[in-house]
Amino acid sequence: MRENSVMSDRLNLLQRIRHSIFPGMLQRPKYPERYRNFFNSLILHFRPRSVQERTLRFTLTWGLGGMAVVVVCMLFGTGLMLKFVYQPFPDRAYESIIHLQNNVFFGQLIRNIHHWSGNTLLIIVFLHFLRVFFSGAFHPPRQFNWIIGLALFLAVLTSNITGYLLPWDQLAFWAITICTGMFEYIPGIGEWMQALVRGSGDIGAATLSIFFAIHTAVIPACLLVLMPFHFWRVRKAGGLVIPRKPDEDRGSREEKVPTIPNLILREIVVAVVLMAFIMFVSVIFNAPLGAKANPGLSPNPTKAPWYFAGIQELLLHFHPLFALFIIPILMMIVLFSIPYINYQTNTAGVWFASLKGRNMAVSSALVAIVVTPLGIVADEFVIDFVAWLPDIPGEINNGLMPFALMLTATILFYRAVKRKFSSNNNEAIQAVVVLLVVAFIILTITGIWFRGQGMALIWPWEVGS
Ligand code: HEM
Ligand code: HEM
Repeated sequence: MRENSVMSDRLNLLQRIRHSIFPGMLQRPKYPERYRNFFNSLILHFRPRSVQERTLRFTLTWGLGGMAVVVVCMLFGTGLMLKFVYQPFPDRAYESIIHLQNNVFFGQLIRNIHHWSGNTLLIIVFLHFLRVFFSGAFHPPRQFNWIIGLALFLAVLTSNITGYLLPWDQLAFWAITICTGMFEYIPGIGEWMQALVRGSGDIGAATLSIFFAIHTAVIPACLLVLMPFHFWRVRKAGGLVIPRKPDEDRGSREEKVPTIPNLILREIVVAVVLMAFIMFVSVIFNAPLGAKANPGLSPNPTKAPWYFAGIQELLLHFHPLFALFIIPILMMIVLFSIPYINYQTNTAGVWFASLKGRNMAVSSALVAIVVTPLGIVADEFVIDFVAWLPDIPGEINNGLMPFALMLTATILFYRAVKRKFSSNNNEAIQAVVVLLVVAFIILTITGIWFRGQGMALIWPWEVGS
């Protein structure tokens, strides 16, 4: 200790600064091994010393959790840069984006990276959610981490919606008008919630200011709390779920390997490839920017952002009370209760729960692929409870009746697959989740590509010809 302070007295200013950053490296500060040791010990403050070798398989995580972390970091970096130029006022927001694109060094590129990262993050987090579900990583002791994950998902979704309004162009203005308009249908508290989110009756200065605060302060703060919590829970669960074959015992564990370099190297490769991909997309494709927001002129069709296209599509088939409130709330309840259902077996680490589970999942996906488009077309052209029963309220003939039909069909589906495959409840519940997820993806695709003027069904390839 004394020797150290005596030696540090003899150093010049630069050496003393370096010593303050890398203490204990006085003797041979140029030797690279010493720096490596320093950074290794820094990394090991955040990561375990060793990990189960099997969890390193790319086909367990597909690198998705790590990718989400990388993209969130990119969003924080570019978001902070955007904040220097962006002005959250209706008469200046659009102009500040134009200024950013035309006059600020790399302004367009930074905006593009932020835009594409935000959209990519949603896809990555959705795929991560699917991988966690299908590898059974929500079983004990990971139940609560599933809940934290869902909270993260909601935070990412809110971040995307609030960010969407900020450019203040026609696209943003009308999409957010639709999204916040949906609150009206929530019974009792809907109008109050809408006023809270909009800050006044219509979308305006107050809304932009609220969205800006949520986007650049509230959600980043939530992410900064939730993400470390999420990673801490992974550590507390003893690392990732260990992948195993359907007939393999849960107790069978393999040798551990050191985190550095085995895990760190893989993470760096995934991060570099992902960043290169987002950079490439950002150089080629500019983030969209329409004309300046015009509250008096709504585009036709007025579409919600792509991640809400599924819900907007539901709105065409169900009364808003069901499409915007009852169905989404039920879906959230299902998602939050997934880890707490009383399952017959703990299938953690087995892809799709079992071999039978895989077959059932494929069958469910096929059923959804056939039945959902048929249902959409039938509801558009054939089924019309409103015309058949005009004297009863819309909540019943356009809400409760089609909803009861769907719910009954789903329950019958659960019972039918369970009986046909003589499966346990793990496999049958998984089959129902596959059915609902694939149906929702098809609704989303329909909303994005197969709806035209007046939200009528169209065949997209014919529009241009
Ligand atoms: C911003 C969003 C998210 C980030 C940054 C994130 C990050 C991560 C990371 C880095 C891991 C460990 C590596 C990996 O599994 O790839 C992980 C694991 C996990 N995540 Fe997430 N995640 C997010 C969202 C979600 C969501 C939406 C869910 C599910 C609802 C979820 C549930 C889990 C669970 C249960 C684990 C433990 C998996 C295991 O032990 O194998 N996460 N997450
Ligand atoms: C999960 C994190 C985040 C997501 C998903 C996200 C997403 C988005 C999206 C989709 C936009 C609209 C981009 C466009 O099309 O023009 C946007 C805009 C913006 N974001 Fe973020 N963002 C995130 C974090 C942040 C952070 C941490 C900040 C700053 C502290 C920030 C600042 C901004 C600003 C100033 C804009 C307006 C500029 C523009 O629209 O180009 N964002 N964000």
